[in-house]
Amino acid sequence: MAKINENYLKLPKNYLFAEIGKRVTKFQSENPNAKIIRLGIGDVTQPLPKVCIDAMAAAVAEMGNAETFRGYGPEQGYNFLREKIADWNYKRRGIEISADEIFISDGSKCDCGNIQEIFSLDSKIAIFNPVYPVYLDSNIMAGRTEIIYLPCTAENNFNPAPPRENVDLIYICSPNNPTGTTLDKAALKSWIDYAKENDAVILYDSAYAAYITDENIPRSIYEVDGAKDVAIEFRSFSKTAGFTGTRCGYVVIPENLYGKTSSGEKIPLKNLWLRRQTTKFNGTAYIVQRGAAAIYSDEGQAQIKNIIGYYMTNAKIILDGLKSAGLTAYGGINAPYIWLKTPNNISSWNFFDELLNKFHIVGTPGAGFGSCGENYFRLTAFGNRENIFEAMERLKSLKPNS
Ligand code: MLT
Repeated sequence: MAKINENYLKLPKNYLFAEIGKRVTKFQSENPNAKIIRLGIGDVTQPLPKVCIDAMAAAVAEMGNAETFRGYGPEQGYNFLREKIADWNYKRRGIEISADEIFISDGSKCDCGNIQEIFSLDSKIAIFNPVYPVYLDSNIMAGRTEIIYLPCTAENNFNPAPPRENVDLIYICSPNNPTGTTLDKAALKSWIDYAKENDAVILYDSAYAAYITDENIPRSIYEVDGAKDVAIEFRSFSKTAGFTGTRCGYVVIPENLYGKTSSGEKIPLKNLWLRRQTTKFNGTAYIVQRGAAAIYSDEGQAQIKNIIGYYMTNAKIILDGLKSAGLTAYGGINAPYIWLKTPNNISSWNFFDELLNKFHIVGTPGAGFGSCGENYFRLTAFGNRENIFEAMERLKSLKPNS
């Protein structure tokens, strides 16, 4: 019998959102008439922007013609998309990132989960607590054991200070999943300084950058001096342009970002990632990359702004609704997630059950993101407006202090 990777046995039995899905399916089958409102997994509900649909339709037509048909594309993505990203997301914001520092993928979840492969197995990791489970689970699967958890609490504004000890890799997500809070330039600078002093690499997930409304909050870590020497950035079209089902994201690995061998030789991280991708990945579909590239036009930007505005209005309705139901809530201003304190401090899984059973609303228990998420709960703003209003209406009868 083949031996298994026993690191998998150290993980919770189900991935967080699979566990939630299982419980909701069970509840729905036992209560077929319940109208469940799903504000759990951060999945978008609005259709793709028209510019994307048109660009993909044109790409489909190209695939049906022998003259314009495409087979395997470049593993790191087509230049037409990499160049647009470099221009619109970086150059126009005063950041010098070149197209060949950008690697297109089929989404940030894969990139965030796979990036750890290019680092040594004995790397020491720092992660926020609570945290997007992919960062932690992918390191546990690989067998890493040295993990420093940085508590994010209301007391530290969900903004933990760098650890006292030395770590090799630091995962940072801003706007944060799950707390919906952001790190400002000063906070990011302290992480960049820490990374320089400790020879560490920051793995910066800014999948929700498009939701930042405050001009003072950086959309990219490269807006902060020195970041290109220490940080890899992950971005996604999922929440920016409704691509959760269409799949497209990218990683930025600056030319001069290095790791080292055990004998101390400096190796560009970009080369390792390219080697990994060319071996294990055959590129994102041409049709999808054409769709993604279409958001980089004035018309495309206007269309995505509209969709993001829709979700952010939802976030405001949720925040206002929770506050008027007497609950304490965070996030929801520069992010599509609202992080609320459970009423009467009940456990976050008990609150999950109560919301599902009594109100037929699905959210995500904070404890699923780590121990410091206990007694917290996450709602997403990605629902449709009618459901958001109805969910807030239902929650009016939640009586926190009764
Ligand atoms: C979430 O709900 O946290 C997101 O959907 C996760 C993801 O993008 O994979």
